[in-house]
Amino acid sequence: MAVITNKLQTNLNGLILKNPIMTASGTYGYNNEYNDFIDVSTLGAIVTKAISLNPRVGNKHIRITETQAGMINSIGLENVGIEKFLEEKLPVLKTDNIEFIVNVAGSTIEEYVQIAKICNENGIKAIELNVSCPNVKTGCLEFGVDENSLYELVKAVRQEYSGFLIVKLTPNVTSIEKLAQAVQKAGADAVSAINTLKGSQIKISCVNGKISKTIVTGGYSGKGIKPVAIGAVMRLSKAVDIPIIGIGGIETVEDVIEFLSAGADAVQVGTANFTHPDIAQKLVFELEEYINKNGFKDLDELKKELRK
Ligand SMILES: Cc1cc2nc3c(=O)[nH]c(=O)nc-3n(C[C@H](O)[C@H](O)[C@H](O)COP(=O)(O)O)c2cc1C
Repeated sequence: MAVITNKLQTNLNGLILKNPIMTASGTYGYNNEYNDFIDVSTLGAIVTKAISLNPRVGNKHIRITETQAGMINSIGLENVGIEKFLEEKLPVLKTDNIEFIVNVAGSTIEEYVQIAKICNENGIKAIELNVSCPNVKTGCLEFGVDENSLYELVKAVRQEYSGFLIVKLTPNVTSIEKLAQAVQKAGADAVSAINTLKGSQIKISCVNGKISKTIVTGGYSGKGIKPVAIGAVMRLSKAVDIPIIGIGGIETVEDVIEFLSAGADAVQVGTANFTHPDIAQKLVFELEEYINKNGFKDLDELKKELRK
């Protein structure tokens, strides 16, 4: 395996990472789940499962189903809640030279603000707002699909949180660019894109003329969404000046390079962790190998060439 040098160092508008490879929220737990498979400290950063103010038990029905080119999940934001997170998960995250980002979920602006405030008080360096959550005050319209709600949310969080603020955009909108511009105007430091696409799977079986169906509806992720994600990153790179973190169907170093070419400054790997728990670390090594093999000085030079 290649030796990791500082050639991959990534400066996201002040947030300095060892490299641009992160793990995506909800696909990597809180770190301790993966310690047995890889040296987590080799990653650029890990993003935690979404944390809400109170613990959530999540959905009861089928939560995950495999599709032809990915998976559909309907976890329902199960998580331990901020209090337990601080008690049990944060001490593990704070060890071993690991860079981490806390993914935050809420159902009102006040909830997001409260969590952000707690993160600030506990010295959490970076948070990512999951804005694909229903806003109970607007009849459950997601925060992330409405420019005005999104602007108000990000502005309110910005006032209470002085660390690095990332807003994770949903692709289930007409213009992701307008939402990103609202986020930038409200003071976010970076955007990440994309969250899952809305989808359903119907499994049908027929015995003696009797049909039975299993329907799973939720967020579609994995390699099938890569073109949607690449398209979103390309449009975002023309719409905003803040760094873009590309997410969606990343499995290979070629995928990472395509995202960098589209305008991403860093990437997150999600669904691929389920089949290959060591994939993110492998991509760090392979990205460095790609840079060395092709004679680039460092990641910045590679990015420059890719965007000519
Ligand atoms: C099982 C599962 C749970 C997820 N949970 C969260 C979450 O809690 N917060 C969030 O912002 N995104 C969550 N996501 C979305 C991913 O972080 C990522 O944006 C999406 O899956 C696309 O990347 P991928 O194709 O590499 O998986 C989840 C995805 C999966 C598959």
